[in-house]
Amino acid sequence: MRRLAGALLLIVAAVTTAIAAEPIADFIRRHWATPIPAQGPPPAGWSALESALAPEACGTCHPVQYADWRTSVHATSMGPGIAGQLAEMEAAHRGSTLECRTCHAPLAEQSPLTRTRSGLVANRSFDPALGGRGVVCAGCHVRGHQRFGPPRRDGSLASASPRAKLPHRGVTRTPAFLSSEFCRGCHQFTPAGFALNGKLLQDTYAEWQASRFAREGVQCQDCHMPDRRHLWRGIHDPAMVASGVEITVTPDGPSLTAGRDFAVTLEVRNTRVGHAFPTYVTPRVLLRGELVDAAGPVAGSRREVVVAREVALDLSRELSDTRLGPGQSARLAYSGRVERPDVRLRLTVVVEPDAFYTAFFETLLAQGAGRGEAEIREALEATRRSPFTLFEREIAFGGPAVGRVPGPTPDRSPRRRREGRSRRAVRRRGAR
Ligand code: HEC
Ligand code: HEC
Ligand code: HEC
Ligand code: HEC
Ligand code: HEC
Repeated sequence: MRRLAGALLLIVAAVTTAIAAEPIADFIRRHWATPIPAQGPPPAGWSALESALAPEACGTCHPVQYADWRTSVHATSMGPGIAGQLAEMEAAHRGSTLECRTCHAPLAEQSPLTRTRSGLVANRSFDPALGGRGVVCAGCHVRGHQRFGPPRRDGSLASASPRAKLPHRGVTRTPAFLSSEFCRGCHQFTPAGFALNGKLLQDTYAEWQASRFAREGVQCQDCHMPDRRHLWRGIHDPAMVASGVEITVTPDGPSLTAGRDFAVTLEVRNTRVGHAFPTYVTPRVLLRGELVDAAGPVAGSRREVVVAREVALDLSRELSDTRLGPGQSARLAYSGRVERPDVRLRLTVVVEPDAFYTAFFETLLAQGAGRGEAEIREALEATRRSPFTLFEREIAFGGPAVGRVPGPTPDRSPRRRREGRSRRAVRRRGAR
């Protein structure tokens, strides 16, 4: 009897999974149809506030999400870098920017032009105030003026009160908002999309799908929207990057001695990035080792290992791909011999979130960016400000190691302390 009930449960579970899985795929296909159809006239009796698509309108009643969103890259995805390029592209080739907008400003109301069977025409639903606002709330949440959203936090889908009585007639709730598929359309090229060296230029969803995170049910939202926050932090945020990697120095401690050979390894491991670190061709991560003294870096002592997928500026070819898949690591081995005790070995991990764009915008300006000139100049300045030091440690030749956040905590096990003492003893003997 117990076994029969168990088997029945299994069958029921299998059937409900199949039903639940099917609507998610269907919903995503409809919700993310490209292009997204214009919303049309608002339902009769709606207030101007309910009918508005502007993020500020949503923010009147959803201040928490609005405050988060404003600081996110989704809010600035029509920033000067892209706007400057679109201005020139549009001048050279009418309509050539429609495809860019499907990801950078997805609503029909955000595009001045629309493609019809008879070709490109001015878009009657275009709202100039919305055009430059990037991935707005409505881009993800509103279709035909109807609001879509995730299940309540307790998992329920039904409305607590009659929907007709709620602002914007309540919400249609679907688990699709909780799945990685919801993000796929803008963060994954289709199989026929642009590829270099046999690899798509944007392959984040597929990288995630092949990772242990997909097998463990960890979705994009779990890492990028924790507690349903609308921050979408990524490569530009030091704390976010630190959360995904483990950085170690071996040997770790006061172990270097002037006048003796030494060998130190700096290692960066992708422990909790749910895709390649970094996933795009635009950032660059540098593992760097160099000797420094009171006057600064010692000339000729710098050694670097690059973690990036580097491509030619005209996207004609891939130059290298040293990105780290989940679980993989990169190492910088620094060895040598230092005679002066006043020198220190400095190990750093530097993140350049927009390395490709810095070089790209420089070249664009050198060639003449036309109508986009001023905006590209502004974008270039922003890319020059984005690099940050994720990790830094200085090891003295003689003194103890000086660690700085967010470095790993030094190993304080008795064994390590004993080793440290005996090494210091050796050093004292050597000095005599
Ligand atoms: C006049 C106030 C008001 C405005 C303006 C408004 N909303 Fe809402 N919204 C509400 C209320 C009230 C609820 C709760 C409905 C419910 O409990 O079913 C809600 C629920 C939602 C939900 C589901 C929230 C949840 O708890 O899961 C989403 C998503 C949403 N709104 C999106 C939007 C977007 C996008 C806009 C702008 C285009 C917008 N809303 C404008 C009042 C408003
Ligand atoms: C309508 C298209 C669209 C959708 C849907 C979308 N994104 Fe994005 N996302 C973008 C664009 C465009 C950018 C780049 C903006 C820029 O750099 O100007 C971006 C950037 C990001 C970044 C980069 C942050 C950084 O520091 O560089 C993260 C993280 C991100 N999105 C996560 C998500 C997640 C998670 C989802 C699903 C919940 C999602 N996105 C859905 C278009 C989209
Ligand atoms: C499939 C979605 C998608 C399409 C289509 C797309 N982008 Fe992007 N774009 C992104 C994402 C995601 C990022 C952030 C990651 C990065 O920087 O590479 C981005 C970043 C950018 C950036 C740098 C960020 C900034 O604000 O300066 C520029 C410039 C840009 N895209 C231009 C374009 C242009 C021009 C087109 C059309 C030819 C285009 N994009 C088409 C998704 C897309
Ligand atoms: C890139 C797509 C995207 C954009 C843009 C976006 N949201 Fe969301 N929103 C989501 C997803 C996905 C969830 C569900 C996240 C989860 O449960 O992990 C969500 C959840 C919500 C919720 C439910 C929150 C809760 O605590 O239950 C509200 C309300 C909401 N969004 C409002 C907004 C508003 C207002 C804006 C603009 C200021 C906005 N969203 C912009 C994708 C988006
Ligand atoms: C296990 C946690 C985790 C999961 C799951 C995850 N990410 Fe990330 N993601 C990160 C971390 C940490 C970073 C910062 C390091 C980096 O940039 O690679 C990041 C960075 C990014 C960036 C910044 C650009 C770049 O070149 O790295 C984008 C875009 C992004 N994620 C999108 C996604 C999308 C889309 C999904 C789902 C298909 C997803 N992420 C799943 C943790 C995660």
